[in-house]
Amino acid sequence: MNAPNPDIQQLLARRVPGYALEQPFYTSPEIYQQDLENIWCREWLYAIPACQLTKGGAYVTLQIGAYNVIIVKGRDNEIRAFHNSCRHRGSMVCKSREGKVAKLVCPYHSWTYDLDGKLLWADKMDADFDPSKHGLRNVALREVSGLVYICLADSPPDFEEFAQKAAPYLDVHDLRDAKVAFTSTIVENGNWKLVWENNRECYHCSANHPSLCRSFPLDPEMSGIMPDGSISAKLQAHYDRCEAAGAPARFLINETGQFRLSRVPLEGEAVSYTMDGKVGATKPLGRVTVPDAGTLLVFNYPSTWNHFLPDQSMTFRVTPISPTETEVTTTWLVHKDAVEGVDYDLNRLTEVWIATNDEDREVVETNQMGINSPAFIPGPYSSHWESGVIQFTDWYAAALERALAPKRMAAE
Ligand code: FES
Ligand SMILES: [Fe+2]
Repeated sequence: MNAPNPDIQQLLARRVPGYALEQPFYTSPEIYQQDLENIWCREWLYAIPACQLTKGGAYVTLQIGAYNVIIVKGRDNEIRAFHNSCRHRGSMVCKSREGKVAKLVCPYHSWTYDLDGKLLWADKMDADFDPSKHGLRNVALREVSGLVYICLADSPPDFEEFAQKAAPYLDVHDLRDAKVAFTSTIVENGNWKLVWENNRECYHCSANHPSLCRSFPLDPEMSGIMPDGSISAKLQAHYDRCEAAGAPARFLINETGQFRLSRVPLEGEAVSYTMDGKVGATKPLGRVTVPDAGTLLVFNYPSTWNHFLPDQSMTFRVTPISPTETEVTTTWLVHKDAVEGVDYDLNRLTEVWIATNDEDREVVETNQMGINSPAFIPGPYSSHWESGVIQFTDWYAAALERALAPKRMAAE
């Protein structure tokens, strides 16, 4: 059974690097709450591709822990984020997950906000009521190369490092000229860290991903995650070829290990994630001139991993829902002028990752069920095949330590 109040400091202190985390990290409501407070409500989180909001007034809402956030495009084409809580008595202003509005009108007493959050109209309020003091509360938002990130913290951490390092890799993909071809949202009945652990290795791929294995290389040497940090000669040759053609490719990881970029080749002759390995979209998205440049792999903990290919791009957003439930939203992007049925077939474009996501859901859920057992004892990761998982759990433990240290000092 779980301890009623697992001491997170103690659990972190006795963590064995290179081994799976102890059960409470995957099951306990208290640790889940700590994850929300210390990671999800502090870090920059990937939200949407900017192109998803096609017109002024288009919005999406995102739930992160107890927060709900509106991301809306203004008539000035600026994308802004607000807390979805009316400044009157706190009602949600936008109830839908997405929509298009002329103004943001609270459904309760019709307080009406402009798309920039300003309160425009509040009926029958007292004479001394000052609308200018009752605009929607801002949420920090940044866009890098067509990807929108938000941060719930009052003082967000630095975004510049990621923006500056990622932009050259991303810019060649022209994500601002993209359109959303398809979005899928699934719920995996597993802790968000299990979703990540599963994502960060391909040890499970040959047994679980028949469609993906047609194009994604199983060999960790080719995905740039050698345990000693070295790069194989084959991968280096691929980096050099892409970079000579103007597509930044080489492995880049930041100091805390929070984000990583690396453009890796696909398997054999494959150029995209399709069943036959041929392009999924004939009108390319971006300016990557090497047809077999493969996939630019980007992860940015805790919220996103991505694949950017010469013909299409895919973003994945992870959102924790409960200690044992995680939402994964996948968005397929193609060139904004690509016509479905002419330049791409939607089924062909999406079938590999729809199947892969479902297979991953299955293994994550089965993993969670086994971890729920009182008999679970954390086992060792393979340093060759699971170096990415080791990297993730090390990052997670260090991020929690960093967040908890000031609290600990204040309590002492
Ligand atoms: S709570 Fe929004 S108008 Fe009253
Ligand atoms: Fe997988």
